[in-house]
Amino acid sequence: MRHGDEAVADQHQPASAGIDASIPHSARIYDYWLGGKDNFAADRAVAEALVAAIPTIRSMAAENRRFVHRVARYLVGQAGVRQFLDIGTGIPTRPNLHEVAQQIAPETRVVYVDNDPIVLVHARALMVSTDEGRSEYIHADLREPEKILQDPALTGTLDLDQPVALTLIAILMLLKDADDPWGKVRVLMDMLPSGSYVAITHPTGDFDPEAMAAAVASASHGGMTLVPRSRDEVARFFDGWELVEPGIVPVLAWQPDDGAPSDPHAAYYWAGVARKP
Ligand SMILES: C[S@@+](CC[C@H](N)C(=O)[O-])C[C@H]1O[C@@H](n2cnc3c(N)ncnc32)[C@H](O)[C@@H]1O
Repeated sequence: MRHGDEAVADQHQPASAGIDASIPHSARIYDYWLGGKDNFAADRAVAEALVAAIPTIRSMAAENRRFVHRVARYLVGQAGVRQFLDIGTGIPTRPNLHEVAQQIAPETRVVYVDNDPIVLVHARALMVSTDEGRSEYIHADLREPEKILQDPALTGTLDLDQPVALTLIAILMLLKDADDPWGKVRVLMDMLPSGSYVAITHPTGDFDPEAMAAAVASASHGGMTLVPRSRDEVARFFDGWELVEPGIVPVLAWQPDDGAPSDPHAAYYWAGVARKP
């Protein structure tokens, strides 16, 4: 969708949009931590329980967003990527991925994917693109990667003969091991040509096991899935691809803008970017 199209999505929609305010949703919890207004009491209750477990969790969410900006700048500015497939997009937070990318290369095309109806409500805001580039939205589930790949919004926007950056930012912890997140991600990675990239951030218990265990218990109490993963488990997502410097590191330490962080383990996320040989 091109710049100038009517952007009407920044409004709450009634329950008929498929939004259930009584069940906590990760997109709305994240929105609450980031200071947004698209959240309900059920979301705020779980969000606050998670803050009790990990008092710095809000700033961790903000650090995760900063990683999105850094990785977009790297992939477009240094790696020359002009196509993105971003799964688990979340409620729009400016600057969105396509805004960062198109600031460097206006012709960049981005396909966003999320399975939460509240993100769908905001999809138009995500689809305001430069005239040269393009930005589309697919309401779909990472657990059904074939559907994502076959969606006309993807096939009509991305050229799968050219490199694509697959971005999976703070989503994989919402899939249980039984959902086989490694297998689902691999279906997508296998469809991308040589020179493509995958970028991942993933919460972990490696830095503070007790605090993360308390967070998992709070999420579970609120009826939510939260699966922190170890460095080895995160590394499995990248198998066979070439890790970009500095490898799989704490998110704060991935190509930081302001030099080495004083405490890289202050945000409990692993981050990594890899290139398909
Ligand atoms: C914590 S938010 C992260 C948002 C954004 N990637 C960021 O880092 O700022 C996780 C997002 O993943 C979405 N999500 C969770 N499970 C999903 C699934 N199986 N398929 C697609 N999206 C999913 C949620 O709806 C939510 O918007």
